Amino acid sequence: MRTDTGHVFKLEDYRPSDYLILETSLVFRLSPEATRVTATLTIERRDGVVASAPLVLDGDGLTLIRVAIDGRELQPADFLATPDQLTISQAPAAPRFQLLIETEVAPAGNETLMGLYRSSSVYCTQCEAEGFRRITYFLDRPDILSVYTVRIEAKLDEAPLLLSNGNPAGSGDLADGWHYAVWHDPFPKPSYLFALVAGALGKVADSFVTLSGRTVELGIYVEPGKEWLAGYAMDALKRSMKWDEEAFGREYDLDVFNIVAVSDFNMGAMENKGLNIFNDKYVLADEETATDADFANIEAIIAHEYFHNWTGNRITCRDWFQLCLKEGLTVFRDHEFSADQRSRAVKRIAEVRTLRAHQFPEDQGPLAHPVRPRRYREINNFYTATVYEKGSEVVRMIRTILGAEAFRAGMDLYFERHDGEAATIEDFLKVFEDVSGRDLSQFALWYHQAGTPNLTVSSTHNPAAREFTLEIEQSVPPTPSESRKRLMHIPLAFGLVGADGRPVAYDGVEGATVEDGVIHIRKRRQVVRFSGVAERPAVSLNRGFSAPITLSVEQKADDQFFLAGHDSDSFSRWQAFNTLLTDALIAAFRQILGGKEPVYTARLSELAGKIAADEALEPAYRALALALPGEADIARDIGKGIDPDAILTAREALALAIAKANGQAFSSLYDRLADKGPFSPDAASAGRRALRNILLDYLALLPEGTELAARHFRSATNMTDRAAALTVLAHRHRGSPEAAKALADFEAKYGSDALVMDKWFQIQAGVPGPQTVETVRTLTKHAGFSMANPNRVRSLVGTFSSANQTGFHRPDGEGYRFFAETVLEVEKRNPQVAARLATALRSWRSLEPVRQAKAREALLTIAGAENLSADLRDIVERTLA
Ligand code: BES
Ligand code: ZN
Repeated sequence: MRTDTGHVFKLEDYRPSDYLILETSLVFRLSPEATRVTATLTIERRDGVVASAPLVLDGDGLTLIRVAIDGRELQPADFLATPDQLTISQAPAAPRFQLLIETEVAPAGNETLMGLYRSSSVYCTQCEAEGFRRITYFLDRPDILSVYTVRIEAKLDEAPLLLSNGNPAGSGDLADGWHYAVWHDPFPKPSYLFALVAGALGKVADSFVTLSGRTVELGIYVEPGKEWLAGYAMDALKRSMKWDEEAFGREYDLDVFNIVAVSDFNMGAMENKGLNIFNDKYVLADEETATDADFANIEAIIAHEYFHNWTGNRITCRDWFQLCLKEGLTVFRDHEFSADQRSRAVKRIAEVRTLRAHQFPEDQGPLAHPVRPRRYREINNFYTATVYEKGSEVVRMIRTILGAEAFRAGMDLYFERHDGEAATIEDFLKVFEDVSGRDLSQFALWYHQAGTPNLTVSSTHNPAAREFTLEIEQSVPPTPSESRKRLMHIPLAFGLVGADGRPVAYDGVEGATVEDGVIHIRKRRQVVRFSGVAERPAVSLNRGFSAPITLSVEQKADDQFFLAGHDSDSFSRWQAFNTLLTDALIAAFRQILGGKEPVYTARLSELAGKIAADEALEPAYRALALALPGEADIARDIGKGIDPDAILTAREALALAIAKANGQAFSSLYDRLADKGPFSPDAASAGRRALRNILLDYLALLPEGTELAARHFRSATNMTDRAAALTVLAHRHRGSPEAAKALADFEAKYGSDALVMDKWFQIQAGVPGPQTVETVRTLTKHAGFSMANPNRVRSLVGTFSSANQTGFHRPDGEGYRFFAETVLEVEKRNPQVAARLATALRSWRSLEPVRQAKAREALLTIAGAENLSADLRDIVERTLA
């Protein structure tokens, strides 16, 4: 394990390396305990670098067997090898030479799941960001692009299947029951995109004919016997390939595209060139074992990794500071894909909910950083919601500012200009400036400055002057190491809505540039005057969530109710209702803290009933609107002095009020929505299930609700309904015999299916209340649980610590103690997963004082542990700073 060197990497320190690696030939002789790796590198000295300059290669825990240059074995005096570095202090004077390095690695004992490891006896690799250096010494940085040829040798019975990047280039038998395969990837690539898979796997085969008529062989490899669960993933892959041709003009470039599913994987999936490796939970699905959300995730992640072939692989990152260049852009692309495949309106709301749930707290806490950070200690800790989700929002804003056509022209220019290169954010912004003639220098702050901007907006209408005025003020709160902020360029989409729900016309605007329904905010304070406005309109702001900001709007409750019923922008309509709910919940929270019973206006319940019954709205949209803001959402909007118990009480009281007011109507709608006909994972069917399941959530609070939920559970014919009912029983009727029975039945039925059992762990880890920490502790001893498997750890410990407000934040600190112990236990095996887990305490300073003190103790316990990994130390120290 890499412990902390304390070194801080800085963007301003970037310089090109002295040497290039033009070609990389790798030979693997695979064996669980001692795999031999022979790397032959064609190295070229960069122009202008002095002859014989030292060559310093990265390693991580490596054992060197031998080194040779141009066929001559090096002697101990010629080089210095440590596990983490190979230095050849005097490289050959010739501008080009061949360096041979033989290393030995032990995939079987590798529990970090970085470099070469084994997952259920399949050999596989994970090299992003810096895992390649665990395989051989290399210039392991993304601006070193090399052409790879890989020869894999293995025992035929142990690993009949041998895969690597690129196209197949030979295979055959060897002595003693061994065999080999050779793969060649003609596209120069950085080392983080290298991959190897070897083992016994089942294959699903298909093919795709590209725009220009080339046939690509597609393969999805899974645990033998699970092939029939890969059909949806294959379909999603073909739809992704087609969509990228249509939406971005991007065609696939190799003869084969393979995806391998493994069950031990740190992340969701990885875009290795021509050989994507996936966490099996994002490949395997059928209606019996996967929920509609699982199907949607599979579709999105298959697309995401496929789209990286152009945004990430053909054009990669110059250095890891540029991570958002590939991730933010590719998230934007996968969002657009899902919006086109499903419902754009529903997708947008879901995206914004995710952004607010994950990125806003990051931006508002101690781990805040710019979309393009300037410094890091451990790059693994920068695969964040800010780089990904905010990074995607920034690309979306570029499109909003330029318009769809110029945006597409900019993307075309980006692909044309930078294909085969390792690029930067400056390169990316430049193409859009070049195609549009616009100056994006102020806009670029979205990449460089951390923090969520806030706009304070008030409005006045002067009927005599027929003038409507918006006063808009921007501020960006300070974030760690950035106390003074510069003014941003914020594209604020808006609408003026008349009493009939139609847009209100105006003659002219002053005080800001307004184009295509977007106000361009660039100054601290802008007074925007609309002339020729006879009637006072309701104002709908940040339509479609045009900018990732917070808004403080002085808005009459009547206007808010009106917009929640009539805004023509579906996102803003959802937002209006959501704001009403949040405001009511926060008021109730304060009543509860003051020792009072919360009261809710009947108007809210009435509106909920109207939305539920509105056949003009898609069921999925109605389901999203009816889902109350989560406990964490409410906490975030309260800001400080968080007492999760009071939030839970407020939220449950509102749910009950809505259920009581709408019992009859919800019940008959629930009956009408019952699934008829065969299962389909399509968006419309999923939307109907989502609506029916949210209605169940309300109905379960009424008399005989337990029985209704138990019946829903028993009669479910798919995992979406079954898991929804189990959640309602376990969460709403916690401790009931019905809940216990359903949990036991579920375990009896799915005990041998690890991915389904993750749902069982997850549901129990999410049960509100003080007793859950004990349940979770007990479940860590369950036969189906393992601290070595990231999916298990995330389902149980991750859900408990990041999605169970009342359980985790138990006032006596027991949740935090369990958390600290577990993080340290996970860390011994897998620092990357432990570090991610540890971010669950990033908002500890917003808790009320008693909990805050206990949370701090837990963080100090982690920080005080011996031999802390670089990953975990980086997170705890920044969190405590
Ligand atoms: N390149 C990443 C995978 C990765 C992340 C590797 C961090 C190493 C360290 C991949 O493209 C990715 O972003 N995967 C996401 C899913 C995606 C749909 C956002 C993931 O794994 O969570
Ligand atoms: Zn990605």
